[in-house]
Amino acid sequence: MAETHEMDRRNFLRNTVLGGAGVSLIGTPVWEAAAQMVNEPQMPAVNGVGLDDPLLVQLSINENPLGASHRAIEAVASKMFGMNRYTMHNELEEALADFHGVDPESVFMGVGSSEILLTATLAAFWDQPGNTVTAFPSYRSIPRTTEELGQAVKKVPLTGDWQMDLSAMAAAVDDQTRIVSICNPNNPTGQILDASALEQTIRAMPKDVIVCVDEAYIQFVDDPDYPSMIPLTKDVENLLISRTFSKAYGLGGMRVGYGVAHPSLLEKMQRFSIGMLNKNTLSTVAALAALGDQEHVRRSAALAREGKAYLYEELEGMGYSPLRTQTIFVTVEVGPNVQTLIDRLWEKKVQVRQAFDMEGFMRISVGLPRENEAFISAFKRERSAL
Ligand SMILES: Cc1ncc(COP(=O)(O)O)c(C=O)c1O
Repeated sequence: MAETHEMDRRNFLRNTVLGGAGVSLIGTPVWEAAAQMVNEPQMPAVNGVGLDDPLLVQLSINENPLGASHRAIEAVASKMFGMNRYTMHNELEEALADFHGVDPESVFMGVGSSEILLTATLAAFWDQPGNTVTAFPSYRSIPRTTEELGQAVKKVPLTGDWQMDLSAMAAAVDDQTRIVSICNPNNPTGQILDASALEQTIRAMPKDVIVCVDEAYIQFVDDPDYPSMIPLTKDVENLLISRTFSKAYGLGGMRVGYGVAHPSLLEKMQRFSIGMLNKNTLSTVAALAALGDQEHVRRSAALAREGKAYLYEELEGMGYSPLRTQTIFVTVEVGPNVQTLIDRLWEKKVQVRQAFDMEGFMRISVGLPRENEAFISAFKRERSAL
């Protein structure tokens, strides 16, 4: 029965994508990609999936090069005539609660995890001035909002080998600290923390300080047993974990993220959210379907690992020392010409970026094999032309 239903939906999408209204669009890469992913989900995605320009090699914003799970694409296709409807249910929160083994009241949806980080910072400074403690370099969202609110940011430098210095961060916390921002794995370095040291630090933080652990890239960590800090939210009331569907689930454009925390902390953040009205009907069905396809998450992580191995080897062959990362990007020091190189690569439609707050470093998102190869050959050419 379920199988028949599945086939009906496939036929529906095949017809939607390749027949009827789709006919005039056959041959454009987006439609080819969608049809391929739905009809032949085992096939690798076509190059440039989801891009208007199929020749663009987009390796600057840490998207999932495989695209979304075919189940998410199907779900959106089968619900697209319902885009006039608001979503007035909590099915996604419930599915996420089930997935993580927490109560649905501990899950708070956001328009990307960016909204989670924003509302946490607003909640932290809502009724009191103070400061944010963050590692440096690290993801900028919470520190940026803190500064926009006119509050102070205490930046704790990473150690010489790019590790977060948890004891220095704990020492930087004072009676004015309202929020501590911990990105794990860290962006832009791609490093992870020792899990038991992280847990101890979280438990030792003052209870009136929000501790935010951003786990945007946790599915890409090499060790499959590396623990999330989500279970700790059950007994640490000031802990917030932020997660996203933008990376391993491949739904960056759908803008779905979530926070997991004790309901008393979420309540403070919800003041700054538009509540049920932040639910996008098609994004919600996409995320629900994507959550049910953990195989796609594993494939995405495996693809990132293989891509990184290739990039490490090639970059090392040229004499560079890329950081071994636990994310979907590689960070490498290329020297003072980094921006010139990046500009020249962009002219060749190969988009990478500087690793923010890391002078002389380039950050390369891992793409499909041929995109990684395109980067390497363009990079070789441009660096020798400098
Ligand atoms: C560490 C980290 N956190 C959060 C985000 C925000 O992503 P989104 O709003 O798409 O969930 C990003 C995006 O690149 C990120 O790198």
